[in-house]
Amino acid sequence: MSDEKLFVVEPANTPYARRGVADLFKEDHKNLIRVLAAETAGAPGLRLLDVGCANGECLYRLKQAFPGWRLSGIDLSPDYIAAAAAAPELAGIDFSAASVFAAEGQWDVVISTGVVEIFTDPTEVLQKLASLVAPGGLLIVDGRFNPLDVDVRMQFRDRSPGSRSQVWNTDWNVHAQRTVREILDGRVASLRFEAVEMDADLPFRPDLAAIRTWTFRDAAGRNLQTNGAGILKNKHLLIARR
Ligand SMILES: C[S@@+](CC[C@H](N)C(=O)[O-])C[C@H]1O[C@@H](n2cnc3c(N)ncnc32)[C@H](O)[C@@H]1O
Repeated sequence: MSDEKLFVVEPANTPYARRGVADLFKEDHKNLIRVLAAETAGAPGLRLLDVGCANGECLYRLKQAFPGWRLSGIDLSPDYIAAAAAAPELAGIDFSAASVFAAEGQWDVVISTGVVEIFTDPTEVLQKLASLVAPGGLLIVDGRFNPLDVDVRMQFRDRSPGSRSQVWNTDWNVHAQRTVREILDGRVASLRFEAVEMDADLPFRPDLAAIRTWTFRDAAGRNLQTNGAGILKNKHLLIARR
């Protein structure tokens, strides 16, 4: 799977190998938990897989929000999984260091945040994610899912003092909602998109790698996310039932 190589772990640009899992409750994760609570009506004992779980930050919040759910996480980076497996807060969660394409089995709930947008062509990853959901189960994935019918492929190299990378990387690819619907046509019973609202302000930090995210407000006060690539990177959630 050639797109697996697209995600490059660069220590200066990543928080996942260092930061404690409970340091920051990301707005993305708060929003996801709100949607999950509404979609599952708090059903007990569900089996959930977090694909691209990194150091388990989101799983830590899920464990608190849904005690009694059986939680698993998979990530391509052995360093991130080692950080997750060593965190006492995450005891009882099943972790594996592997690509999503190696995952086998089915779960009541499959979530994935910040992963699909890494793929220039999302076809295989979206279809694989859908295949990991048990019949009647729920798939929740975020991405830059464009309500307009435009797909965009992104490559960048962060040469700022905080990074000094020589590596061309890809992320924040834009996938049109129409493209996603076509990819999942016949593979899920229902599918809808919801804008991810984010109200926290993230300041620009010149001391950090320029590719990191910060926010600013539009004239209506809506919080917009950008980064050193000069893009708007606000997300949508894809919410599908198998
Ligand atoms: C931007 S991070 C998002 C981490 C976390 N889900 C979050 O929301 O904070 C993307 C993650 O996807 C993982 N990843 C990239 N390609 C993957 C693949 N083919 N299979 C599994 N994980 C992958 C990376 O290692 C990284 O941890």
